[in-house]
Amino acid sequence: MEKQKTEKRVEEFESMAFGLFVHWGLYSQLGKGEWIQRNGRIPAEEYQKLKNTFTAERFDARELARTAKRAGMRYITLTTRHHDGFSLYDTRGLNDYDAPHSPAGRDLVAEFVDACRQEDIVPFFYHTTIDWYEESFVKDFDRYLEYLRQSVEILCTHYGRVGGFWFDGNWNRPEADWKLDELYGTIRKYQPDAIIINNTGMDARGKLAHPEIDSVTFEQGLPNPADRRDASKHVAAEMCYTMNDHWGASSADYNYKSPAELIRVLCHCRKVGTNLLLNVGPNADGTIPKMQEAVLEILGSWMDTYGTAVRDGRPADIAGEGKDFGLRTADGRLYLFLFDLPICGSEHVTVGSGSGRVAAFSGVFDKIQAVRWIDNGQKLPFMQDPENGMLAFHAVGYDYGVNRVVRVAELLR
Ligand code: GLC
Repeated sequence: MEKQKTEKRVEEFESMAFGLFVHWGLYSQLGKGEWIQRNGRIPAEEYQKLKNTFTAERFDARELARTAKRAGMRYITLTTRHHDGFSLYDTRGLNDYDAPHSPAGRDLVAEFVDACRQEDIVPFFYHTTIDWYEESFVKDFDRYLEYLRQSVEILCTHYGRVGGFWFDGNWNRPEADWKLDELYGTIRKYQPDAIIINNTGMDARGKLAHPEIDSVTFEQGLPNPADRRDASKHVAAEMCYTMNDHWGASSADYNYKSPAELIRVLCHCRKVGTNLLLNVGPNADGTIPKMQEAVLEILGSWMDTYGTAVRDGRPADIAGEGKDFGLRTADGRLYLFLFDLPICGSEHVTVGSGSGRVAAFSGVFDKIQAVRWIDNGQKLPFMQDPENGMLAFHAVGYDYGVNRVVRVAELLR
């Protein structure tokens, strides 16, 4: 097969590797997830009153951008409008169901993009395509699609360069003609470098639904390598993931994934060439729940140590035992990811000092000069048969006091 063309924007998106998803809106006041209007059967007039109490009083976009940056993330995807139809941006007269017309009285998307730029974070816009507020969604679909297109046009033309658009909801009416050429055409006209994503939902994970799409989506669970055979260009992939079981604030959902699990998930994503978009659901006032903050902080320390390998590495057919795998960068650097090494250094706590395990990898055909842990620079004794792509080395465990869950070694050529 002919090699697929890789657009620069797609390449840049893949290099960002790790992003923050932010689900925040009127529903955050109820703390029961972003679907509560529907799932809780709240009548529209009742639900819409939440606009009158939406103050966003402690929403600090700069702090949000800093939080993402500290976590080793390079982009944030914010729900500029979710299914309830309420916009965090100024809809400039399309309707008044937006943040500037609430007690918040501010264009929160404007604050968001400014803050991102100051912190060197790329802003992405999540935008719903289904709408529980606009009556035309049910009564006059063509009119609704024009409302949606105009909404997106506003986002394209008032907020500077946008990293990308993340649409969500077409899975709700798979049979409908969403006039995607017009919608995506509007984006290409004003924001030619924006990534276009359209969430294919839980039932069609990794599916490419339109030729303009730049990245397929995997909602929850682990991604498979995306099936890109039909694509006319190289398409990225992204998995979005909740920390507990809800996207929007959910104060009584305690089912949190551990930082260790999230580190493993992030590594698995990169193994198959997928970005990870990890979600937080801020409180109504705009602050991030402490638990979510804390998890991001731990992921940030891990990324401080190994982020280069995570961002630069691409799938490479280098396989170890168990979950271990290797990545190769565009300029030929090789990184090996090793899962669940023991802690050394104290026989009273774990096995004796200096121990670890033998790690064996296939698919390493480059002649290697040294194998070195990225975190402490320690060189590890190794044996190699480059002709057959075999590499084995002594994977020394963590020093006492440390367990980074996944440890990364660099191969020096
Ligand atoms: C689903 C949900 C939506 C959420 C999205 C995030 O499509 O309907 O609420 O925003 O997943 O991926």
